[in-house]
Amino acid sequence: MDAQEPSDFHEGLAQAEEAAINPHKEWDRGRAEPPEVRDDGFGGRMLNLYRRDHTEAVLRNSAVFSTRVVAESMGPFMGPLMLGMDGDEHTAYRGLVSRAFRSSALARWETELVAPIVNELLDGIAPRGRADLVAELTQRFPTRVIAGIMGVPLDDADQFRLWSEQVSAGPLYPEVGHEASQAMRDYLRPIVEDRKVNPRDDLISDIIHAEIDGQRLDDEHIYGFLLLLMPAGAETTSRELGIALTVLLTHDGWLDRLQTDWSLLDQVIEETLRWESSAPLATREATEDTEVDGCPIPAGTRLMMTMTSANRDERVYPDGDRWNPDREQPVPHMAFGWGRHLCLGMHLARLEMRVALPAILDRLPGLRLDPDAEPPLIRGVAFRGPEELHVVWDV
Ligand code: HEM
Repeated sequence: MDAQEPSDFHEGLAQAEEAAINPHKEWDRGRAEPPEVRDDGFGGRMLNLYRRDHTEAVLRNSAVFSTRVVAESMGPFMGPLMLGMDGDEHTAYRGLVSRAFRSSALARWETELVAPIVNELLDGIAPRGRADLVAELTQRFPTRVIAGIMGVPLDDADQFRLWSEQVSAGPLYPEVGHEASQAMRDYLRPIVEDRKVNPRDDLISDIIHAEIDGQRLDDEHIYGFLLLLMPAGAETTSRELGIALTVLLTHDGWLDRLQTDWSLLDQVIEETLRWESSAPLATREATEDTEVDGCPIPAGTRLMMTMTSANRDERVYPDGDRWNPDREQPVPHMAFGWGRHLCLGMHLARLEMRVALPAILDRLPGLRLDPDAEPPLIRGVAFRGPEELHVVWDV
């Protein structure tokens, strides 16, 4: 299937990204200032939080800080999505879908999907000695993993990724978002209908047939989950892998150290997630008058937490702006969020990075930045990562 997209769509996205190449300066400044509720310019109130303790206080208290703001913005395009649910509704829904991510499924995905997919992509580029690893590897690999997990033919994965990007951009480009949402549902419908009567050992069958206290998901909730999975699971992991490769290629000595001692791999991955998460933001809405650290927050205020800023908070992580896998992580980082909505796919994301990094370094010996290309730049606000990563290796 040929991937197709409206021509002005990427241009618009690119312009929005251009406006925010390096948000760290603003985030560093935010950590130094006391929190303050402001006018959002549209007749409402908003509060940005940057410190670790403030971010944790909000994400831990899901009774007061609701994700309904996510449901309002993304619901029209994705349908009922778990990130936008609160309380008992979220508990029941998460209980039903989380079984699909049990450790036996992860073990199977590792051998049947994750390792073969990364190696197949590497087969395609290894003899060449030169590539843009974002376009040819990091962007394609997690997309294919999610497609494989869902039971979508891998050849359609790139089209699927485009639809997903367009669905995610729905709040900015409603027409594009609605069209892509419909296209994805139409595409998935025969697979979902088939799994209803012929369940297989795959994620779609799992969520269709999952049952707790006699309750099952209806079609709307099934599609809501499937439409969330690609943007939540592929875009994020692709970008994080790009970030990990970028730091390894730009921090002297680390590639060699890692290749002589693979026991450092988990430290490298966790420090990379702490230092630069691909999905650094979370939004909430206060459901009642409340406060954080003495700052009064009226009901209805929208809050924006920057987890990457919390992850660099000097009060918790000395010299937090520095990527240093040798550091002791005094408390777990917040790259996968915190509390009720803690990332459902974090074990899969870690697994993908744990499999991909050794495979890449093994199959592309002497990997280094391409001296004839622009050095990689980690950029973006809502999603961060390198857009290109030009490298060469020995063949
Ligand atoms: C490095 C990769 C990833 C990062 C940085 C990441 C980050 C996050 C964050 C920060 C949240 C919480 C958002 C909030 O509280 O507002 C979240 C939630 C979620 N993530 Fe991930 N994620 C990653 C990979 C994945 C993967 C691979 C999947 C699935 C295959 C996934 C599925 C989800 C889902 C379904 C939720 C919503 C959970 C809920 O509402 O209970 N993520 N992720």
